[in-house]
Amino acid sequence: MTILFHNTTFDKIDVWKKTIKKYFKNENLITIKDYKKFDEVKYAIIWNLPDEILSKLKNLKIIYSMGAGVDHILKLKNYNKKIPIIRIKDEQMGERIANYSLAQILNYQLNFKIFQNSQIKKYWSGERTPIDNKNLTVGIFGLGFLGKHIAGLLNKLNYNVIAYKKSSTKVKNVKIYTGKNIITFIKNSDVIISILPSTFQTHNIIDKKFLNMMKKHSCLINIGRGNTIEEKDLLNHLKKNKNFFAYLDVFKNEPLKTNSQFWKLPNVTITPHVAGVTAIESSVKYMYSVYKNIKMNKKVKSDVNLSNGY
Ligand code: GLV
Repeated sequence: MTILFHNTTFDKIDVWKKTIKKYFKNENLITIKDYKKFDEVKYAIIWNLPDEILSKLKNLKIIYSMGAGVDHILKLKNYNKKIPIIRIKDEQMGERIANYSLAQILNYQLNFKIFQNSQIKKYWSGERTPIDNKNLTVGIFGLGFLGKHIAGLLNKLNYNVIAYKKSSTKVKNVKIYTGKNIITFIKNSDVIISILPSTFQTHNIIDKKFLNMMKKHSCLINIGRGNTIEEKDLLNHLKKNKNFFAYLDVFKNEPLKTNSQFWKLPNVTITPHVAGVTAIESSVKYMYSVYKNIKMNKKVKSDVNLSNGY
């Protein structure tokens, strides 16, 4: 059997290929250059596969997303909803995304962005009182598998953790808001970490109205998807509110264009979609465990709820 591997943006693509070969020893690994073998392809391990390639994989049985998000697959016109999608659900990725979130929270509460801007101007800005963990309420916007990892780390460090989730659930030491309580969630947060997937319901959910409800001295960390933010509204908000900071890892269009105004604003920190880098070894091991189940004729359940869109 044959596996198609496609990814042009991740780091360490050679290690990815080596690791896939190590686990899936008895399978052929091909890339889109080997188009003559497309009919043999049963498994696809992909990130941003072009739609026209997907349309040529007539015998595809399983699609593995190389990340936690599956929007890159669901948006393809030729995606056949009967083909199960397996997404990465990995503790290591959970640790990475929690570390990233903590780093940006610390950046905000210790005024590092201000010091960094002063350094560029060779200006000694003087003492500024940091915000203590116990006085900072962090709101996690989207409390799925990864959001819970963030909550776990922040709880250990004495932050007040609250969250907003579409459906109600219980997580130890996290006050959870649902439905219309979104307003209280926004107003009570000193920091909002948005980790929402891209769906028709989350599209531009962080807009002018949302931002105006946030505290004037606060920060927004976006590690979910760029299209959950109405970027024009965020730009205006950042220009008007100098004590409002944004830590942005994802954008509507990536890579972010050189002429984007986000690059220049003193209250913005940009990272290139790296908050939850997929851990290779543990993820391929997970993919292989799903594959073994298929081999044993166990039914494969898609990780994706198509009606929710993620
Ligand atoms: C990254 O954005 C991912 O979906 O894993």
